[in-house]
Amino acid sequence: MNNAPIGVYDSGFGGLSVWRELRRLLPSESLIYLGDGKNCPYGGRSREDIEAFAFEAVERLVREGVKMVVVGCNTATTAAVGALREHWSDMPIVGLEPAVKPACQTSRTRRIAVLATQHSLSSDMFLATAMRYAEGVDVVKIVGEGFVELVEEDREGSAEALAAVRRVVGPIVDSGIDKIVLGCTHYPFLKPHIREVIGDRDIDIVDSGEAVARRVKWLLERYDIAAAEDNAPRHRFLSFAGEEYRRRLELKAEKILASDDTL
Ligand code: DGL
Repeated sequence: MNNAPIGVYDSGFGGLSVWRELRRLLPSESLIYLGDGKNCPYGGRSREDIEAFAFEAVERLVREGVKMVVVGCNTATTAAVGALREHWSDMPIVGLEPAVKPACQTSRTRRIAVLATQHSLSSDMFLATAMRYAEGVDVVKIVGEGFVELVEEDREGSAEALAAVRRVVGPIVDSGIDKIVLGCTHYPFLKPHIREVIGDRDIDIVDSGEAVARRVKWLLERYDIAAAEDNAPRHRFLSFAGEEYRRRLELKAEKILASDDTL
């Protein structure tokens, strides 16, 4: 039993899509969400830079007394999760990877699309996962150009956001795919637009939020560090980008909780 908080980290707002699943599945756990904000977006940056940002973030969360860290960011996971685990070897660190495996395993057309950042799609980790699970399946890789910025600027409900999604997703919906994997935690915020562009085609949207929450639950039990059932959880928000950004994170989190179907 351990009532210390779990740290959740992302380049910015995206990890809130994971945070929501954690809150749902683990209502007794206290969560500290750290949205970098200062260095976002990570997607076009070098591996070295992203690794340095991730170390700064995890150090901060460790100073806050977390018992576990969830890297709620595919890009930071591909760049840094190995080094983070080596450095904090006595603390569970959960990473996030595009859900290529379940998508390939359930694809009927043997053709799927993965939407993610430039960094994630060109990383060794992504290539290794694709090689391992995508045998006989065509994996179309697409960068969600402009998606992260739209979510960071709270413009995900706009006509502009729909146009951006149409530009990126429109050209692939009739290419024989039956799954679109959201390989960036910002992208679930654009799901309503993705659904609109898909229309009545038989294409599923797959993301990793729920699976990660289940993995966290499993680890809490395995390490015997779950919070007591009667723990009164605290939910805090941190950022490297200053108070205004931090407050926006908090408001977005409240909004996500209030409306169950925004993601
Ligand atoms: N949310 C992040 C991810 O899951 C990264 C977005 C970015 O900063 O480019 O990949």
